[in-house]
Amino acid sequence: MVAERGLREGAWFRSAVFYEIPVRSFYDSNGDGIGDLSGVTAKLDYLSELGVGAIWLLPFFRSAWRDEGYDIVDHYEIDPSLGTIEDLDRLVAEAHARGIRVLGDLVTNHVSIDHRWFQEARKDRASPYRNWFLWSDSGKEFSRTRVIFRDLEPSNWAWDDAAGQYYFHRFYATQPDLNYDEPAVRAEMFRVARFWLGHGLDGFRCDAVPYLFKREGTRCQSLPEVHQFFRELRAILDAEFPGTVLVAEANQSVPETVQYFGDGREFPMVMHFPLMPNLYLALAEQDPRRLRHVLQATLPAPPGCGWAYFLRNHDEVTLEQVSDDEREMFLWIYGRHPKTVLNGGVRRRLAPMLDGEDGNVVLMTALILSLPGAPFLYYGDEIGMGDRLDLPDRDGVRTPMQWTGEANAGFSTLPPERLLRPPVEDAPYAPAARNVADQRTRPDSLFHRIQELIRVRSAHVEEFGSEGLLAEDVRVPGVFAFWREQAPARVLCLYNLSRAAVSGSIPLSPELRAAPVPIAGEVALERSESTLRYSLLGRRFAWVRFVRPVLGAPNAPSAVSGSESG
Ligand code: BGC
Repeated sequence: MVAERGLREGAWFRSAVFYEIPVRSFYDSNGDGIGDLSGVTAKLDYLSELGVGAIWLLPFFRSAWRDEGYDIVDHYEIDPSLGTIEDLDRLVAEAHARGIRVLGDLVTNHVSIDHRWFQEARKDRASPYRNWFLWSDSGKEFSRTRVIFRDLEPSNWAWDDAAGQYYFHRFYATQPDLNYDEPAVRAEMFRVARFWLGHGLDGFRCDAVPYLFKREGTRCQSLPEVHQFFRELRAILDAEFPGTVLVAEANQSVPETVQYFGDGREFPMVMHFPLMPNLYLALAEQDPRRLRHVLQATLPAPPGCGWAYFLRNHDEVTLEQVSDDEREMFLWIYGRHPKTVLNGGVRRRLAPMLDGEDGNVVLMTALILSLPGAPFLYYGDEIGMGDRLDLPDRDGVRTPMQWTGEANAGFSTLPPERLLRPPVEDAPYAPAARNVADQRTRPDSLFHRIQELIRVRSAHVEEFGSEGLLAEDVRVPGVFAFWREQAPARVLCLYNLSRAAVSGSIPLSPELRAAPVPIAGEVALERSESTLRYSLLGRRFAWVRFVRPVLGAPNAPSAVSGSESG
């Protein structure tokens, strides 16, 4: 199946709004209580209506389901609970027909203990698969490697009776790591990628990329070999599936994260893990300075590349990229409930973290929609879905999408108690209070406000899809301001992170003295000869567009200076 041309042209991924879907939680099309691929197909019109340009599906391969599909049992089969290969083909075709690209999730680091490769490897030292995994007699190697699921796993090594040795696992013990020093493993992963791209996928979000290679004495992350592997994968995509994209999940420090762009030769998109917790901290502090610092250190992405911004995803909010003090502050503000903290992070959804206030959700969403790169929205956040802290691990942020106000959220034909996971029940977030059907009918709903943001971003995609950002030093406490530009237009993006109303003024260079047009948000503007005065209520934002007069055009001012504000 070949994706429609057009869909993969240019840096399409910087213009699109991405939407993350845990397939099992989205819509159950066959009444078995589990969301499935045909369920996603059935809801494509909804995604189109929202304005989504690409979806990222959580792993849909045959799985042991001990880690939401990230524990693969067969890379070449669709898990029967999610549908068939024909269902996937139909989903891709229907999505493409609506201008929506489809990303899969490429899980390279590990497989399930139930995978045939591991089963063969553990029972026979002479098996060709033995070297596909990492074994040890002592379980003491790679001792500098941090344990990621630190609340759930004591070590990165697990003893296996059948093998008579320890095996290495970066995540759950049910997910043995593959040995990337084995050439057959690398070749197999390239084969897996080709297989699914051959089914029309427009690319992959690549899971846990920093960890593929292990070297004694290092922290076993972001080693040069990792970059080499993904450059090879990228070269395959460029040569055989042009215009497809790879998005790196690399939860690393700023300098290490930036390296995943590989100067334009590795990942076209990298998830902005260093920015994410700072967005919440800046909001709580009512002070954008930390955002300026992180963006200064990470922008612009190399030509042809873009950052992938996100507020929430299917995991906990990870706090590995902030200092100890910042982590403490974060947990004090956002992690007060005793059941909130998991692996040092916060397992909550966007709306409950933001006090259930639509205005906060709109502000934060507008912010990630306006930065250079692309936003990744998490399913249900566009209607302010809540979470369930009574569910284990990260299940509480993976509850059924709330389509209607019925007790089963309109997710399935089954009653709530027969669903894979129960829907949210807490009053302010229960399906009766927050659901798609209701929000569609109310013009002021969160759904419509997010939809409008996406519409405006898409209508001005030249500016918002451009590569850079011009910071504006407004010196008004709480206000974060920058410009997005693609000549002849410029959009001023203004965010008031403080709870108080603010006003200030921005000097306008002569070329920008054309009438400013507010295109989104709520702002009062007053333009004098050389400045723009603005007033924003607490926690409000505005996007204000200017079009520079074209020299020589009728009514163009005779002298246009080239000086830039900002
Ligand atoms: C995914 C998690 C998963 C882990 C192991 C992560 O980075 O986002 O959901 O548990 O990889 O595959």
